[in-house]
Amino acid sequence: MNAPTEPTSRPPASPPPAGHPHPHESAHLHVAGEATYVDDLPEPAGTAHAALGLSAHAHARIVAMDLAAVLAAPGVLGVLVAADIPGRNDCGPIVHDDPILAADTVHFVGQPMFAVIASDREAARRAARLARIDYEALPARLDPVEAARAGELVLPPMRLLRGDVDAALAAAPHRIEGQWQVGGQEHFYLEGQVALAQPREDGCMQLWCSTQHPSEMQQAVAHCLGIAAHRVVVEMRRMGGGFGGKESQSALFACVAALAAAKLRRPVKLRPDRDDDIAITGKRHDFHYDYAAAHDDEGRLLALRVDMIARAGFSADLSGPVATRAICHVDNAYHLPAADIRTLLARTHTQSNTAFRGFGGPQGAILAEWVIDGIARTLGRDPLDVRRINFYGGPGRDTTPYGQVVADNVLHALVDELEASSDYRTRRAEIAAFNAESPVLRRGLALTPVKFGISFNLTHFNQAGALVHVYTDGSVLVNHGGTEMGQGLHTKVCQVVATELGVALERVRATATDTSKVANTSATAASTGADLNGQAAAAAARTIRERLAEFAVRRFGEGCEGGRRNGGDHNGNTHTAGHRADPATVRFADGQVHVGVHTIPFAELVGEAYRARVQLWSDGFYATPGLHWDAATLTGHPFHYFAYGAAVSEVAVDTLTGEWRLLRADLLHDAGSSINPAIDRGQVEGAFIQGMGWLTMEELRWNAEGRLTTHAPSTYKIPAAHDCPPDLRVRLFDNPDRADTILRSKAVGEPPLLLGFSVFFALRDAIAAAGDGRTNPPLRAPATPEAILDAIDAVRRPPTPDA
Ligand code: MTE
Ligand code: MOS
Repeated sequence: MNAPTEPTSRPPASPPPAGHPHPHESAHLHVAGEATYVDDLPEPAGTAHAALGLSAHAHARIVAMDLAAVLAAPGVLGVLVAADIPGRNDCGPIVHDDPILAADTVHFVGQPMFAVIASDREAARRAARLARIDYEALPARLDPVEAARAGELVLPPMRLLRGDVDAALAAAPHRIEGQWQVGGQEHFYLEGQVALAQPREDGCMQLWCSTQHPSEMQQAVAHCLGIAAHRVVVEMRRMGGGFGGKESQSALFACVAALAAAKLRRPVKLRPDRDDDIAITGKRHDFHYDYAAAHDDEGRLLALRVDMIARAGFSADLSGPVATRAICHVDNAYHLPAADIRTLLARTHTQSNTAFRGFGGPQGAILAEWVIDGIARTLGRDPLDVRRINFYGGPGRDTTPYGQVVADNVLHALVDELEASSDYRTRRAEIAAFNAESPVLRRGLALTPVKFGISFNLTHFNQAGALVHVYTDGSVLVNHGGTEMGQGLHTKVCQVVATELGVALERVRATATDTSKVANTSATAASTGADLNGQAAAAAARTIRERLAEFAVRRFGEGCEGGRRNGGDHNGNTHTAGHRADPATVRFADGQVHVGVHTIPFAELVGEAYRARVQLWSDGFYATPGLHWDAATLTGHPFHYFAYGAAVSEVAVDTLTGEWRLLRADLLHDAGSSINPAIDRGQVEGAFIQGMGWLTMEELRWNAEGRLTTHAPSTYKIPAAHDCPPDLRVRLFDNPDRADTILRSKAVGEPPLLLGFSVFFALRDAIAAAGDGRTNPPLRAPATPEAILDAIDAVRRPPTPDA
């Protein structure tokens, strides 16, 4: 802290609540191991532990389920099967096709069929293995493309059509077409799925769930127990990561814990181990593309047609909204004069895929990057130049395929800045020189942009509520509908409330999310947590501030007009009736309240207001304005604004082994007027690395029987510290948001995941350099060493000029 520069009787000013890199509200607890996650909560007396019995078949009829040995195992207190469910055996978030426990048919290897409840967790897990299940195997569909071709879909086909794509493709001077695919991704949250349920009096149920969506857990539990929502309370203090995997898929665990607790009339905790967690839960959807694009001599896109097939898995889960967002991001940063975008959600006998950071957006946007990258190489132009001429901007080039005008585009300025700060052109020349001399190692470079729409596509999810309490000592407690998963949402919401009330950040605390405090909340998802809950909390705080301002004027403001001194003494005693200050001129800053000539500490004013019976707590509500969406035509104005960013990555590839290293990455990301630059930077870095992991090393593999063989860190490789580039330069782009967002900030949770694209395309660039430089490497994602070697082989013996 700097020493105050001028003598003052006031305490030294704290850093401003917003716009300052305050540490995460729980940082001191995280580093000390004192932050409590669900499994760290003291267990209520008599807590029993559940384990799930999982299907060994991808598709089979359950002929008989013999649980006698399970029940006889040491420590076992009881079992739970589908027939024990008093309400609805379903935990699907939208379409009700998601059984909590399989009743007569299993649909993937790992599907829960029963739960065993024992006095301790190990006993439950051991007992779960003793079940004797008699299956009648049925044909399993494991390949999403085959499933889609056979018409096996979880939802009807979706199509967004704009312009005459067939005519544009037929008349085009150039066409690029092909097929491609990107893999799925396991969430690998550090804290796995977990739920603890405790029966309360009068048929009520209290739950602690690791979930991004407490309200949906409440609904799901109420439905399966067959009771009203007001009997169920769900609390969530923090998650050790969610990444979309705890938006809907936490429901199965919440429901099983609650059902077991209700049946056994005692608290029950369910915390599957990592292998079971990965075997049970859905992942990011892998996507398969069949595309054709028309372009001119310079590489300007004239039309794009793409058929996308996504692996939905055995049920719908959130596949509908994921596909919608994929469709809305196929343009990424580029104007598409004509587009025909079709998506099929294939029903396969695998885990039900779900939300994962970006929510389908990355799978849509990367197709545009793949196409443009291919066009550039075919034309022999730098991909950056082809990207740039395709950016939104200029007359007639600002409307997305779904009809929303891109009104806040900063891509040109942002990419100019990054191109210069990363020395893109110089390094491009150096890399070409290096590759010309290097027989085994090849380097590659790529700059990729991001444009990401912010809001839930489905308009009604874009609402939030909050409660703010000011206590008589002037300290403040905020509760809101969003959940904390490490992304710093509570920190930001506290910063917003502190700003609104003009108090230091340490005067404001956030409580656990709790369905009995703020009702009917939306999932903390689609990166909207701070946008929605920050606005709701600001509204609540504003109401309290306005009441305090009114009171301050009544108490201290007589004789002041328009906030300017106009008589009266300094003790708050007033003489000149009828000349009250305008409450709007009362200022709240630095823990002080300024009314006319008077300055009163916030806590003192609060104490006086309490004694004068002023309400010191308030609710607040927010609904994002201006949104509309037509789900039938996939058109409208689904996003409040767009977030932008770009990244430059440089890699070195060993062409003999397929191994590679990321040498340097430069990231420039638009977080608007950042509420917390430290947290936003952390989000940008983490998302970039997670995006890189998805596209380069995280590989899901199912064997011929449909068993996921990559279900542990030993077989599923996520990026580690060692995979971070030795030279990582991260900056936030200076861009006060044009949209009316909370403190002019922008959502930052998901968009920077797309910055990881630059690593993949740098790899493709390096592989192209292993061939003639003009051949498009058919590099599949994830670009594992095997995939890289296959692509190198292909460019050295090119069958066709196009991937
Ligand atoms: N950051 C951390 N540390 N842990 C997470 O689980 N989830 C991401 C992102 N950042 C996540 C994260 C996802 S998928 C979303 S949608 C947003 O955070 C949700 O939080 P927000 O809306 O408050 O940004
Ligand atoms: Mo994030 S995938 O919207 O939870």
